[in-house]
Amino acid sequence: RRHLLSLATFTPWEYNTVLQTANSFREVLSRRTKKVPTLQGQLVTTLFFEASTRTRSSFELAAKRLSADTLNFTPGSSSLSKGETILDTAKTYLAMGTDIMVIRHQQAGVPQAIAQEMDRLQTQVRVLNAGDGHHEHPSQGLLDLFTLCTALDAQKPQLEVLRGKKIAIVGDIAHSRVARSNLWSLVASGAEVHLAGPPTLLPLAFKDFVKDFVTPAPDPGNPGSTLPVQVHWALEPALVDADFVMTLRLQQERMGQHLLPSGREYHQHYGITRDRLRVCNPQVKILHPGPVNRGVELSSEVMDDPALSLVPHQVTSGVAVRMALLYLLGSGR
Ligand code: CP
Repeated sequence: RRHLLSLATFTPWEYNTVLQTANSFREVLSRRTKKVPTLQGQLVTTLFFEASTRTRSSFELAAKRLSADTLNFTPGSSSLSKGETILDTAKTYLAMGTDIMVIRHQQAGVPQAIAQEMDRLQTQVRVLNAGDGHHEHPSQGLLDLFTLCTALDAQKPQLEVLRGKKIAIVGDIAHSRVARSNLWSLVASGAEVHLAGPPTLLPLAFKDFVKDFVTPAPDPGNPGSTLPVQVHWALEPALVDADFVMTLRLQQERMGQHLLPSGREYHQHYGITRDRLRVCNPQVKILHPGPVNRGVELSSEVMDDPALSLVPHQVTSGVAVRMALLYLLGSGR
């Protein structure tokens, strides 16, 4: 695998390789020096055509912890405004000696198009998708997986620890690249996945989309057996006995002018509050990829409760996981 563009074709071996490598880098990050010479001399360029706080900063920090050089492209102050194309922008950074490009764009497919161009030019450049439109956000999917697995087994995080765990993904599924990447990894883990959201954000057509992720178990003798992904418009069935609740941001920028439901309406019916969590496993943990709209997807009492919220752990995990990804791609593995 030269590039990381999607989790759709990831194998259990690849998930576990990323988890184990990230766990080693977590140990490195706990040391005083926090730095290894692994990617010394390599150039990592972040090309973010869409806003980011966590992903861009943690890729930059991960590259620095691996001793790589870094360049950050930001569209506002770039020659895009003078008519330069995205591909020519990427080729400009190629000409400066970039080894790894980390790309975010509001349109699905842009990292894939740049990867294709880099391959057509027979370069050695690796491309990492840092979020393309509503399509995928694979590094977020992997850091969420690492966060879930370390919550269950801090010493040896591996895919298998999620088998049989009930995981609810709640919110704006329709516009969420995070949900798509998470679906690939969670289904591969054998977790029982429940999606919940309002009809406008979880359209019926999504039931067909979900079928792409699942192979019904060949179990004709058990009419009660269910697909590993279930879709609900009501919140409570998804929350009952849930071990983890992954909440998603209302992506207003992808919804047009008229928000349905409004933030207030959404919170009233789908917002995660302490009271709503009473039906979950008593040890339930909450995740959110960020940025969070407080009082919309999550109440502050949930978000700020360290016994409930894994949100800060997700951000911390992001550095170790992105070190693993840069290391594995940078060393040709
Ligand atoms: N989770 C995530 O992608 O956050 P940013 O948009 O801040 O990078």
